[in-house]
Amino acid sequence: MAHRHWIQPALNLSKRRITYKAVTENITKLEITPKIAIPARTQRHARLANVAVGPNLADNNKGEIDFLSCDYLAIGHDRAINEAQAEYIISQINDGKATWSRSGIWPRSHESPMNEFQEKAAEWLKADAVVLTKSGMDANCSLVEILLQYNYNIPVYLDFLVHASFRYGIRAMKGDMIVFKHNDLVDLEAKMTKRGPGFIIADSITSSLGTIAPLKDMCDLAEKYGSALIVDESHALGVHGHEGNGIVCQLGLEQRVQFRTAGLAKGFACNSGIFTGRQEFVELFLGGTTKCMFSHAVQDHEAVRLLKALETIKQANDKRKSLQIKFTYFKQELRKLGYLGYYLDHPTQLFGLVTGDYDKTVRLDRTLKSKGIYAAPFVFPAAPKDRSLVRWNITDALTQEQLEYTLAVLQEFIEDGTAKPSEWPDYKKPCF
Ligand SMILES: Cc1ncc(COP(=O)(O)O)c(C=O)c1O
Repeated sequence: MAHRHWIQPALNLSKRRITYKAVTENITKLEITPKIAIPARTQRHARLANVAVGPNLADNNKGEIDFLSCDYLAIGHDRAINEAQAEYIISQINDGKATWSRSGIWPRSHESPMNEFQEKAAEWLKADAVVLTKSGMDANCSLVEILLQYNYNIPVYLDFLVHASFRYGIRAMKGDMIVFKHNDLVDLEAKMTKRGPGFIIADSITSSLGTIAPLKDMCDLAEKYGSALIVDESHALGVHGHEGNGIVCQLGLEQRVQFRTAGLAKGFACNSGIFTGRQEFVELFLGGTTKCMFSHAVQDHEAVRLLKALETIKQANDKRKSLQIKFTYFKQELRKLGYLGYYLDHPTQLFGLVTGDYDKTVRLDRTLKSKGIYAAPFVFPAAPKDRSLVRWNITDALTQEQLEYTLAVLQEFIEDGTAKPSEWPDYKKPCF
């Protein structure tokens, strides 16, 4: 296989022993005082994740190929978006108005770009109201906090692959968490029959596998059992739906899905999050959630960036089309090579190769890196211990040449046995 000019000489990673055994050797309790210690298990998990995941950054200047970025439309470096934010900061300084660190609890002035963003985003998402938060994690935890504060006994049904921030929020609220198999509505219904109505939570596109939730059927089920649906649209906004307004709108479900959330560090390339709901929830958020009461708000210049990003995203039909061509081609070719993961045929810009255990995953990831290809290894706790995976994001920044090169490398891996998809847990069958 021809090595392209942009790839640096292969890194020699093979000499480093990066295996589960090597990483977990010689760990004992970490003593803080004679009576308090960090358990070896905690350290082991942290070490394994640190070694597998970091440092993990593709260097464009070296020609490394970036399948890590969630900036799907490649707008992170858009001049107009960055200039809008920079100019706002400068104008605030010049006017002596620059402020920082406002708490989220106080009502924002009517002129605040935050309000403008919330209103425009609500219109775009066909939602009653949008609440802007500092991150997707904040949006998910805050929403769960509002919903569960006095609803102690209401079950929360979680898709197995839903983003970890929901589990975190539910645990913090001591909620009654019931997990159903990924996208398996028979399993969900069986659980709802036993436990009764509650909140159902799913990602419209899962962050590890890029699978799409069966949202229409979920709405039917939620309505049948008097339940409410919460859908995380982090990986859909910007890329899917009319003007990028997500899968819920694409399917015309905006009236049937009670709450939507999203982290905006993906399609928006901005540092914040949102949730949608009825107008009354905005008031609850301001005065009723820990993350609002005891933490600062999104800054105005960040809201200005969001406004410009929203404008750009709405007009980005060409980018969406070009991205769709790229991910459809890449996933199709991958399947032709024999990567027959059960979850690979969803029409989305991301996917996971479910490699199995830690060693296999780290080995595949390191070998990819040695060829200048950077994807994201997901090991415990980002994936179950026996179903680690390598997550790939296709962005519009990737060139056809880079995709071809990567496919050629993946073909080579099949031929020399570096990758053995038929031994992976997702080979032609569900495994989550
Ligand atoms: C589906 C999903 N929801 C929420 C989040 C959290 O977003 P943020 O990074 O803004 O906290 C992520 C990010 O990884 C995600 O993939």
